[in-house]
Order: sequence, then structure tokens, then C-alpha cells
Amino acid sequence: MKITDTSDLWWKTAVIYCVDIETFYDSNGDGTGDLAGLADRIDYLAELGVTCLWLMPFYPTPRRDDGYDVVDLYGVDPVLGSHGELVELIRTANDRGIRVIADLVINHTSNQHPWFKDASKSKDSTYRDWYVWRSTKPPDTSSQVVFPDAEDSIWKYDERTKEWYLHHFYYHQPDLNIANAKVRDEIARTVGFWLQLGLDGFRVDAVPFFVADVEEKGEDPTRKDVPADPHQHLKDLRAFLNRRKGNAIMLGEVNVPFDQQYQYFGESAGDELHMQFDFITMQATYLAMARGKAAPIVEAIQARPLIHPACQWATFLRNHDELTLDKLSDEERQEVFEAFGPDPEMQLYGRGLKRRLPTMLDGDPRRIRMAYSLLFSLPGTPTVYYGEEIGMGEDLEADGRMAVRTPMQWNDGPNGGFTTASPRRLRSRVVPGGYGPEHVNVADQRRDDGSLWNFMRQLIQSYRSCPELGWGEFQVLEQPHEAVLAHACHKDGETVVAVHNFSSEPVTVDLQVADEQVRLEDVLGQGVRKTDEKGVVEVALEGYGFRWARLHPITSRVR
Ligand code: NOJ
Repeated sequence: MKITDTSDLWWKTAVIYCVDIETFYDSNGDGTGDLAGLADRIDYLAELGVTCLWLMPFYPTPRRDDGYDVVDLYGVDPVLGSHGELVELIRTANDRGIRVIADLVINHTSNQHPWFKDASKSKDSTYRDWYVWRSTKPPDTSSQVVFPDAEDSIWKYDERTKEWYLHHFYYHQPDLNIANAKVRDEIARTVGFWLQLGLDGFRVDAVPFFVADVEEKGEDPTRKDVPADPHQHLKDLRAFLNRRKGNAIMLGEVNVPFDQQYQYFGESAGDELHMQFDFITMQATYLAMARGKAAPIVEAIQARPLIHPACQWATFLRNHDELTLDKLSDEERQEVFEAFGPDPEMQLYGRGLKRRLPTMLDGDPRRIRMAYSLLFSLPGTPTVYYGEEIGMGEDLEADGRMAVRTPMQWNDGPNGGFTTASPRRLRSRVVPGGYGPEHVNVADQRRDDGSLWNFMRQLIQSYRSCPELGWGEFQVLEQPHEAVLAHACHKDGETVVAVHNFSSEPVTVDLQVADEQVRLEDVLGQGVRKTDEKGVVEVALEGYGFRWARLHPITSRVR
């Protein structure tokens, strides 16, 4: 493939790294991570090979949903730093070849946002129609709430104005009314503002929820300001974004079935979200690991719709929320619970897990490495949540999703080197026990050639050297072992093959990788071998073993 295409559509082969600024590195010893601290660690991320940094919300917030409850869409929370420090961070990251994107939270605001405070004063408020209100008692919506431990309806009664407002998430996060043209203009202005400050795009929070609001209002024929098509808002926003900055992207959080995700990509036109997280393949991966069988992953990837060439799937194994298993059947979810989180204290909302990957895999380095090798070799753009690169664990005693939002473990010193503050001042404590900083930390792993950190670094380099994995067409290579996934990604005559063993038993597979004899260059190791005359090669894998190889014609020289 043309290597120059990779810098054009950069997001198709990026390595995205998600950071919670507050828990990454504290530069001033007040117990909270900050922008200056993150800037201090940019060289660390560059050394790891990260190419795109995703900042979780840094806006002013009362922190009732860890920053996803915003009181000023144009602000920087003073606890984290200033606009000046944000710009310095972006410039430093760019200088090291790292783009920066940030969470864009436009489905809702905090109820402490001045717009909502005004809106809830009176039905005649200027901002009343910036939120979604109803005057009649809502029906039972308990099945639609996102956080069933905290809410039983998506409507909250407002005592002062005697109407109900919509909130898909917590009651203190009223949904913005996207059907209102003024709200849409303000969102565009926000996007323009942050692009101007240097961001290269956004991780767009909770996309299906705000598009649904438009749909509701869109059914009201008396409204003139409503986009006829609920997806029109996304198309308009995308067009605006790319007018302001041609290579900026929107990566959407869209946990819906594939046929609906296809619509959020803008179907064959590809004119809505540039990227979406692949929640379905993520969940299938855990099912596959629980069963020791590759089939669920094959089914998931083969069920993906064919998306526009400029669009991309963001693949991941873990994020900052619960590890949701909501797209599995009840029986499948139970299988994953039994394998990876049998205790009720490990589970959340009846649909997910509180744990990080290494603890779920009993700390087995073979399984952990196999899982990441798989993540980086499946077609898509891998996204890593901070701490995954060193195999951090979780704090099960922390409340809900906070279990995986613990301080980054930099060294084996006090507070894992995250802050010099007294532990009492930390918002989340450092992970205790066997996964704590004495055993799992950056400094030790950077020095150790055999560490997970060095393995991840090599994986990232390998992924970047195989753009076919981001761009290519996926093909399953037939072979008889159900514990094995053998696949190829093809692009413009180039092929990369990957083989993964989901079982603890060693296995040897014969793979037909071409129609004629070819050379196989081992991407993760050093070796070069040949197939037989018919393009078949024998691959021996250890328990949980894996290989990647690039194919070369027999006549060519291996580069
Ligand atoms: C999705 C985010 O990932 C989650 O952390 C947040 O609570 C909700 N959106 C509400 O903003």
C-alpha cells in the first residue's frame, strides 16, 4: 500500500492512549494529577510509541461523574491547570509526533451549569429550551436508565417549574436539547474553539443518546428548527469540524448493534463519525478468552459492516468505564462472569465487570500478552487505557467504575511516584496488594527487557510497521483447531498474517497463506521462513502463543 496514505488518514493506523489527567501525574504535589504533570510525561508516551493522546474531560466540573458533568464547555478545571498549560501540553505532544484529542461531552451538562440553572428558574427562561422538558407524568422508563444503581427513570421532576427534564445518565446531568438550533450552534462553537487551541479532534461522548433526542423532537411537525433527519446534526457537525480543520476527527462512543453503527459512520458516504469504538468485538474477545475458542471473534469481525475507506474501528480491551458485556446474551455474559469476575463485588450494573485485564487473567503473562497481540493485530486502530502497558490492576474496594481510575504507577516509591502529597489527599488511593506499585510500575519495567512495557512497546512498533492491519481486508485462514484464530489482512497486494492460540495447550497448525511459495518474515521476532510450493506453512504455537508474519514473494528481497 502507499505509505503516504497513512499520514493522510492518520487515524486508521494510530495508537490511541486514553489519559485521565487527574490520576496520571501530579506536578505540584497537591494530590491531583494535572496538565503540567502530563506534559512532563509526554516523552514517556512518545517512547512507548503512542501517536494520539485522548484526554478525558478536563472541563470545570462538580465531579459527580468524574468530569463528565461539565459546567463550562470552554473552560479548563483549575484543579488540573490552565488554558495556557493545555496549549503547552498540545504543543509538546505535537512536537513528539503525538496528536491530541479530547472528550466532547455534548449530550448533557451538569445541573450546575449556568444554562441549566437559568433554565430551571422558570418556564420563560432564555435557556429553557436548551434542555428537554415534558409537562406530563412520564411513563415507566426504568429499563432505559444507564446507571440502574442510582436512577430509576430518565426523567426528573423539577419542583420549581413543575415539569420533568430528560437525563439519560445521572439526574444531575440534564440532556441538552439538540433540536434547538442555538444549542447546535453553541456545540459547533465549542468544537471550533478547541480546534483553534490545537486539538486534532474529539472522543464524542454518548452519541446515540443525543441523536435520539433529535429524533423525538423531530416527530413534532410544528418545530421549524429541527433537522429532518436525526443524523443530520452529526453530518453538519462533521462538515463544520473538517472545514475548520481538515484532518481533525470525531471518534464516537456508540455502543449499539453494527447496523446502527453503520448509520453513525454516515453509511456509504462516510460523512458522520470518522471512528467508532468496536464494543461488539471487544465483548466477543472476552467470550473467546473465557471459552478458549476463537469463534466469537471471527463472528464479530465478520459481522462488521463494510465501512467507508476513510472511516475506522477503534479496537480496545478496556476503558475507564465498567467492562460492559451488554451485547452478549445472558448465558454468554454469565460465562464471562464465571471466568473473569465470579464475585458480585467484581461485577457492576448486572452487565459488566470492575476489573482490569491482568487480574482477570490471573496475572498470567502468556495470556496477557496474547490478548494484547490480538488487540493490535485485529483490523482497526488500537486504543489503550493508561496503565494497561504495565499491567496495572484495579481497586475493587473503590466505588463502581472508580475501581479502574486509580493513580498511574510510576515507581515503587510512596504513592507509586504519582504524587508527593500525603496519601490522605489523593482522590483515589493507589492500588493495594500484589498489583500495587511495589510490584507493578513503570520504572522497573522500563529497565527490564522482558517486561510487559517493553513487549507493548514492541507491539506498537510492529503495528505501526504493518499499516495493512489498520487498512486491510480481513480474511480468516481456515484450519481445524477451534482454539486458534489465524487471520490475514490484505491491502494492495501486501499481506500480514497473525495466528493466536486461545488455549493453554501447545498446537501446531498448517496454514495456507498464499497460492504459491512465499517467504514469511516474522514481524514480532527475527526469522524468515518459506512456505511449501503450495503456500502452506506449519506454525507451532506454545500454549497462548502467537505469531505475526508479513508475506513476501519468493523472488523479492525481504526488507
Ligand atoms: C460515557 C462515559 O464513558 C461515562 O464515563 C460517562 O459516565 C457517561 N458517558 C456520561 O457522560
